[in-house]
Amino acid sequence: MQTFNNITGNRLVIAILVCIFIIYNIIIYKGTQPLTAEKLSDDALAGQLLYQKNNCTACHQLYGLGGYLGPDLTNIISTKGKGPEYVKAFLNSGIKSMPRFHFSEKQKDAIVAYLREVDKTGHFPDYNARMHPTGWVEIKTKSE
Ligand code: HEC
Repeated sequence: MQTFNNITGNRLVIAILVCIFIIYNIIIYKGTQPLTAEKLSDDALAGQLLYQKNNCTACHQLYGLGGYLGPDLTNIISTKGKGPEYVKAFLNSGIKSMPRFHFSEKQKDAIVAYLREVDKTGHFPDYNARMHPTGWVEIKTKSE
């Protein structure tokens, strides 16, 4: 009798957990979530391509994601004391393990345009980010 009760009890617990799991998934996947995508300008797109082709991301991060040899570049354009000319100087000269790149002025402008548009999307690290119970993380974009 005792064993029988344990087994039905266990099944009940598992059934409740499965129900919670299903409801949780329905809330996440059916819930309203902001899905507006940022669109890059043509210049920034050209810059993004250069950023990818030259493996900047192997050493640098955007929003904390990427390689860790160099610093995060999310807000490099708006950081006080840095900015477009600062970025170009690093591309011209290289530093430590970062190679010198032989970009044309137009290519450097494109990379700056890309980093400028990335910068406009928000802050990293974002100390004001809010996490909802569904797991959705709400961040304030700079355009808001
Ligand atoms: C092999 C690794 C490597 C690659 C590839 C690389 N970098 Fe770097 N980068 C670094 C390192 C290391 C630093 C200097 C970190 C320091 O100051 O100690 C740096 C510094 C910088 C800085 C200055 C950052 C700051 O906050 O002072 C910028 C801007 C930059 N890199 C842009 C780029 C771009 C754009 C590309 C691609 C075209 C690129 N890097 C490719 C390693 C790399």
